[in-house]
Amino acid sequence: MVVPALIQRKRDGGALAADEWRSLIDDYVAGRIPDYQISALLMAVVWRGLSNGELGALTDAMVASGDRLHSNGLGRPVVDKHSTGGVGDKVSLLLAPMVASCGVAVPMMSGRGLGHTGGTLDKLESIPGFRTALSLRETEAQLTRLGCAMIGQTPEIAPADRKLYALRDVTATVESIPLISASIMSKKLAEGLDGLVLDVKTGSGAFLPDRALALELARTMITLGETRGCRTVALLTAMDRPLGRACGNALEVEEALQGLAGEGPEDLMEVTYALGVEMLLLAGVERERAAARRALEATVSSGRALETLGKIIEAQGGDPTVIEDPGILPQAAAVEVFRAPAGGVVTAVDPRTIGAAIIELGGGRQTMSDTIDPGVGFVITVKPGDRVAARQPLASVFARNDAGIALGLDALHRAIVIGGEAESLPLISHRVTATGLEPL
Ligand code: URA
Repeated sequence: MVVPALIQRKRDGGALAADEWRSLIDDYVAGRIPDYQISALLMAVVWRGLSNGELGALTDAMVASGDRLHSNGLGRPVVDKHSTGGVGDKVSLLLAPMVASCGVAVPMMSGRGLGHTGGTLDKLESIPGFRTALSLRETEAQLTRLGCAMIGQTPEIAPADRKLYALRDVTATVESIPLISASIMSKKLAEGLDGLVLDVKTGSGAFLPDRALALELARTMITLGETRGCRTVALLTAMDRPLGRACGNALEVEEALQGLAGEGPEDLMEVTYALGVEMLLLAGVERERAAARRALEATVSSGRALETLGKIIEAQGGDPTVIEDPGILPQAAAVEVFRAPAGGVVTAVDPRTIGAAIIELGGGRQTMSDTIDPGVGFVITVKPGDRVAARQPLASVFARNDAGIALGLDALHRAIVIGGEAESLPLISHRVTATGLEPL
């Protein structure tokens, strides 16, 4: 196989055969193709796209790059959820223990921060001691015992996505329907799921801001899932402002704990419950939406979901006392309040500016080898449409030092726009299934 010739064919708009995708992925995972050649190929895919046949072949090759989870002996339906990526999106941290507390097995396999968006693995690793690199056998044992494991791609499961994901993060090759679809669906298909719920983000902070493209992404992933035996449903949710209030790894864990204790921000809880309802219906443990919602709410009001999260944290080497004392999470050395420069109506809270600033503060990666500072980020207490008075506190910056505080305040000045007409997307706009599109 001559890799430059394959890159050239893709660059010029041609298609690669299934066995060529398979060899490319196998050789890359085995270290026989360097990052720079795969980077060039990924950029060619960003520009030229993939045919349906190529997308299926790439996804299958990525699944086959590792082992699969054997989840059919668990005695419970196996369902997961995945988001296409957002800012402040800590839904997985709440949803996994809530749904597991309803009798569903949730093998939550997540990624790290990607582009300007945060990643569930980085958030979890802000909990002292928490280990996301479980082996396949450890994951299966934990699923049997607790109904939930929260893991990353390992050398055993979807290793191709682990390498490609890290490479895409630092080569501006994230924003592509086929690459996002293959990345998400390879991880999820390797979990051997009965059902999958996708949270497809739309709006300025999504990788694909345009609603039509978000819909195309949803349909592409649904087709990949359904044709491979995994029932797949998507909700389109707003990412034209951060979800919830906290943005940044440890800050988001703290907000997730508040949510599980019944004190989460309304938008975060609404998206979590809506996705959870779809998961319980797909799992077949509930037949009716209202009953599914009540079952999820009961896991919060009874404290069962929080208790389950504590058990998951303990099982994965983390310090479970974080449940009662979030103060053990890494803390930023410097904190400063941002006040409204003028009175008026908040018209925008731009998630991309916030996500990019978190990376600059040290909370995300600029190169593949960067280590991140889990304590930095923002807590933003206003949403588009809120009326604010001059000098009212709107947000806080959490940084390592004074330079970080200055950087964070500058980002908030650019991200939070006051004045004019507020226009924001509906929090949850559509439900997409294999049979159609339902406006909500
Ligand atoms: N989430 C993933 O797992 N992969 C992507 O490419 C984007 C979001």
